[in-house]
Amino acid sequence: MGKKVLVLPGDGIGKEVMAEAVKVLHALDGGRSRFDIEERQIGMTAYLQDGTPLSDATLDAADRADAILFGATGGPAYDALPAELRNATGLRLLRKRLALFANFRPAFMFPELADASTLKREVVEGLDLMILRELNGDLYYGEPRGIRELPSGERIGINTMSYAESEIERVAHAGFQAARARRRKLCSVDKANVLEAMLLWREVVTRVSRGYPEVETSHMFVDAAAMALMRNPRQFDVVLTPNVFGDILSDAAAMLTGSIGMLPSASLGAGSKGMYEPVHGCAPDIAGRNLANPLAMILSAAMMLRHSFGLEPEARRVEQAVRGVLAKGWRTADIRQPGTRPAGTREMGDAVVAELTR
Ligand code: NAD
Ligand code: IPM
Ligand code: MN
Repeated sequence: MGKKVLVLPGDGIGKEVMAEAVKVLHALDGGRSRFDIEERQIGMTAYLQDGTPLSDATLDAADRADAILFGATGGPAYDALPAELRNATGLRLLRKRLALFANFRPAFMFPELADASTLKREVVEGLDLMILRELNGDLYYGEPRGIRELPSGERIGINTMSYAESEIERVAHAGFQAARARRRKLCSVDKANVLEAMLLWREVVTRVSRGYPEVETSHMFVDAAAMALMRNPRQFDVVLTPNVFGDILSDAAAMLTGSIGMLPSASLGAGSKGMYEPVHGCAPDIAGRNLANPLAMILSAAMMLRHSFGLEPEARRVEQAVRGVLAKGWRTADIRQPGTRPAGTREMGDAVVAELTR
């Protein structure tokens, strides 16, 4: 039996981009994938089908899988479900249950897209940074949380930013190890000037940094980091962030590379099992119209080949194929430039397959 890959397309463009990534995995092996691929529903699609966004059977499949490909979930109907239903299920639960605490989000500028960014070519050309977003703590999981009624009758919404030292330590180690294998720079982002959870974050990252003297460590407050990312993004190598700040900064970093449709990610834990998810959401505004850029999803599959299966040559083949289609001028609407060849989601997937099998 081959290694087990659980495919969770989700909602909206999640389904569209996932179909292309699965196509690419098959093409890699001449039409029949070496992986044992199981597909299941998650999100609103699953809720409509099974009455829950994430069924026990799907959770079991996630536990059994060697790696998971995740598309995107959400949409107006999903966001309107009761908070208990949304919060107890879905993406947040999977990330926590599988202890995937390190979310690597590489913002890499393909040279062919230097003019597709809304920032000037001279600012973004050659950009290659890695956001490492902590994924199991912070406001996303802190207790207490909820909407309560005050004695006055007014309601109060509560979320708690909290981080245990061990949670900060493990992701910091992951960050320094990544930096060591890259350009040996790490910038930790926090809000230590205001928040105690972030004061502890800075203290622990500083302590861990002493074990990595070869890595040049710096610290930035998140507001200043947002500015620096726009002003001079190439100063960064690894950017280590708490959960919430990483969520926000990575969408911004995506735009440096041309489009959020270009940014893949790997959510990793202590072992080789990982979940691979594009940074973007289910994009209700363009869903079902063959408009979505599938490259973030396809590049996420490449990260899976590399990190969960040690298939470095295969990962490179996929990344080179993406580079190849961009060089040939294929562009989805989000990265369209004058003089390029228009492609829909499927045409872009086909172009990657053609490049792989040429
Ligand atoms: P979004 O990322 O879905 O879309 C933001 C904008 O980027 C939209 O204009 C969209 O058309 C565009 N975009 C996104 N992906 C694209 C792609 N591959 N190609 C071309 N354009 C793309 O964010 P949103 O609109 O804030 O959220 C929509 C829904 O998705 C919400 O329900 C949200 O909760 C959910 N969401 C899910 C995930 C996830 O499942 N990982 C991530 C983010 C948002
Ligand atoms: C992401 C998404 C998710 C997050 C949402 C949909 C829970 O925005 O993966 O970036 O905030 O983590
Ligand atoms: Mn996000």
